[in-house]
Amino acid sequence: MININENYNKLQASYLFSDISKKVAAFEAANPDRDIIKLGIGDVTRALPAACIEAMHKAVDEMASDGDFRGYGPEQGYDFLRNAIATNDFQSRGADISADEIFVSDGSKCDCGNIQEIFATDAKVAIPDPVYPVYTDTNVMAGRSGTWKDGRYQGMPYLDSTAANNYVPALPEEPVDLIYLCFPNNPTGATATKAQLKTWVDYAKENKALILFDAAYVAFIRDEDLPQSIYEIEGAREVAIEFRSFSKTAGFTGTRCAYTVVPKACMAYDSEGNAQPVHALWNRRHCTKFNGVSYPVQRAAEAVYSPEGKAQVKELTDYYLENATLIREKMISLGYQIAGGENSPYIWINTGGDSWEFFDKLLNEASVVTTPGSGFGACGQGYIRISAFNSHKNVKEALTRIEKAL
Ligand code: MLT
Repeated sequence: MININENYNKLQASYLFSDISKKVAAFEAANPDRDIIKLGIGDVTRALPAACIEAMHKAVDEMASDGDFRGYGPEQGYDFLRNAIATNDFQSRGADISADEIFVSDGSKCDCGNIQEIFATDAKVAIPDPVYPVYTDTNVMAGRSGTWKDGRYQGMPYLDSTAANNYVPALPEEPVDLIYLCFPNNPTGATATKAQLKTWVDYAKENKALILFDAAYVAFIRDEDLPQSIYEIEGAREVAIEFRSFSKTAGFTGTRCAYTVVPKACMAYDSEGNAQPVHALWNRRHCTKFNGVSYPVQRAAEAVYSPEGKAQVKELTDYYLENATLIREKMISLGYQIAGGENSPYIWINTGGDSWEFFDKLLNEASVVTTPGSGFGACGQGYIRISAFNSHKNVKEALTRIEKAL
């Protein structure tokens, strides 16, 4: 008899964004004449940068000729892309990361979800609240939690991120082994300073813990004083893994390309307390379960670092940030307390009521889709998240309708 992994039974019914899609699909079916504006899931709406398209076309042409054709590439990614990433995203900012510490993949969601499998099943995992649900759910699937009770999984220390701490959590009160951090934050849009990240790096060093740092939204940072990578913090090479994505940076949500940085100095421990390089473990896992991102897509990602690509990515992210400003200003003018939207495409709004009720009100009365904050955790109850990923025209129209509905 084949038994199931019963940890799956602990999971809440379904993935947040699937629940929302179902609700929106039902609303669409019932109201075929309503023009729905989607500011829910953080999916980009504008075309890929021209430099990426040009590079992808060229690579596709290479694949059409026997002489230039490429089959399986290196699982970790082609050197041309790993070198471009190391130079531009890290070394240019004084972060000591080399190309062979970069693992190119098909997405940060997969990497953030898969990374936990190289660590012990009894590892204590600290999860921020509110949080991108992938971190929590994948650890529940792996058996690192107890059952769901009062809106939280037992046995997982939660790190409250609230208005009181500007959405940057305090250190845990009990010892933990794995710590998820995400800045600029999804869903709150909050950012963390170098000093705040240093507190976490110091904690991880003292406790032989490891930080899983999700920097998927780094391209939206405009404040020069904010760190863009955890490796800008002294000592982080020993205790942190970083996730980056081309999805929000350059519109690759449908194209799929991301990368994970695992420094060679980064250690985890076996049951006898011996230090083991995490790089070797992740490399082993990656080579066994992944066969590389397609060549044309890696060429498109490389083009992000060309002079034209950099200018186009700036223009693209500036465009969404202009939407974020419009949303911020409107919601403030309507009297709401908000966070995010300045170095982030997400605006986190305290509705003063129930998250799902507010979500339903905006859907039913304004035909605008948002994301209910309670779907990101207990601390998100009462909030909604509005995403800036849409056209200026749609965002302006959505704000007019929201104002009317409220
Ligand atoms: C979100 O809306 O939180 C993200 O788009 C989800 C994702 O990146 O998978």
